[in-house]
Amino acid sequence: MKIDKKQILTTAGRLAGIFVLTFFMMLFSVACIAKDFGIFSFYKVYLPLTVIVYLLMVTLYIYIVRFDKHAEEYISVGKRCLICYSIIFISVVVSSVLYSFFTPYAIVMSSVTMMVTVLSNKKLGIVTTFITMGTMMAVFMSSTYVLQPEEFSTAIVGSLIVSMITSMFMNILVGREYSRLRLTWGTILLGLAMTPLAGLYNYFAQNGTAASVGGAMFGSLIGNMLSVAIFLIFLPLYETLFSVWTNFKLAEVCSPTQPLLKELKEKAPGTYNHSASVANLAESCANAIDLNPYMARACAYFHDIGKMNNPEYFVENQTDGKNPHDDLIPEVSVNVITGHVKDGVEILKANRMPDTIIKAAYEHHGDSTISYFYYKAQGITEGELSNYTYRYDAHKPTTRYSALIMICDICEAMLRAKPAEDYEQLKQIVDGVIRTKMKEGMLDECALTIKDLSLIKDTICEVVPYTMHKRIDYDKAKEKR
Ligand SMILES: [Fe+2]
Ligand SMILES: [Fe+2]
Repeated sequence: MKIDKKQILTTAGRLAGIFVLTFFMMLFSVACIAKDFGIFSFYKVYLPLTVIVYLLMVTLYIYIVRFDKHAEEYISVGKRCLICYSIIFISVVVSSVLYSFFTPYAIVMSSVTMMVTVLSNKKLGIVTTFITMGTMMAVFMSSTYVLQPEEFSTAIVGSLIVSMITSMFMNILVGREYSRLRLTWGTILLGLAMTPLAGLYNYFAQNGTAASVGGAMFGSLIGNMLSVAIFLIFLPLYETLFSVWTNFKLAEVCSPTQPLLKELKEKAPGTYNHSASVANLAESCANAIDLNPYMARACAYFHDIGKMNNPEYFVENQTDGKNPHDDLIPEVSVNVITGHVKDGVEILKANRMPDTIIKAAYEHHGDSTISYFYYKAQGITEGELSNYTYRYDAHKPTTRYSALIMICDICEAMLRAKPAEDYEQLKQIVDGVIRTKMKEGMLDECALTIKDLSLIKDTICEVVPYTMHKRIDYDKAKEKR
């Protein structure tokens, strides 16, 4: 078995980094809560606690590396680790301060859920929240129950459970489609709405009085509002610091008022409409195969952006029946056509678009041959003609997004040129496109599975009748079955 030294060193470095973070996080939290932090608390609480929390942190690391596949094509493992661990650090330290100087009900946990969900994905948001809950439980229990039993209160158990419930609702809220403004109000209102839970716990589990119920609700309110504040303040910082393209940023970049798309619409309206149709297909397919629909949509909108440089050489922009390729030799035509890939990459790089979108623009034709001009050249050439000059000088799709755009792009173009007569024909066309690309080896270097391809086919067949102009006769298709 081949041992990858670089991989081993990277993992060792990350595990050491996680240990350093755990060491200081625990040091600060225990010192904050255990008022007489001395040699006794160091050996009895601090050391075992650091080991327990380190194991929790390593569990999160294993999850990110082995199981969190959802985001791997647009946010690296290193970035996800930095995001998760730093926000856990902030939340645990702030909660320890509040616990020590204010009330056990002011837990800052949903900030972790919101940040990780928005910056990465919902599942990682949930897993990171459970790890944070375990960490807080370990810190608060050991710092009070073991060190100073007289200060231990069951309130901490209740408030952690209430915080966990609030965090799960926050996860659902931020995982849905909302603008930044709606999300801000949504999180504030949800934070407010969850405060009675703390009051209910205090009343029923601790036989609370009116004053203690009010205190529990007020503490919970402070915890929730601080969580929202940390989320709103740190989110733009993290977006910039880690160059993360959140769904907010991706949605903003797909707006028709975005300068690059506006330019595409003005210079190449046909390409803009084609890209919008591809975006609808790609978004639905991404939902079906568990890819980020916002990223798929953005990739589709910008995949042909390079056509802006020579719009009239592309059929979708030729409205006056004039085709400039009629006056060109095939080699020149091919140069112009394939040039849209290189031009697109340059435009996207100049506009600092994310790598996944740039890759989709570069790889959406792979290194396939432009058959039309190859056969045209063959018709006017004597002898054998190599197809090398008539290929795209690019790479086969290396991400699932690039491969998805390749499939949706061809299906859209084919069905726009010649709409399917019925559902059966539509299925045959889409199936044919996927089989051809598989045969050409275009899907060999991406992580799309046979199951994914089957889901993509079914989704395109479902969506096309609603997005393409020609209506498909479903009744006829059913009769045939
Ligand atoms: Fe293209
Ligand atoms: Fe295209």
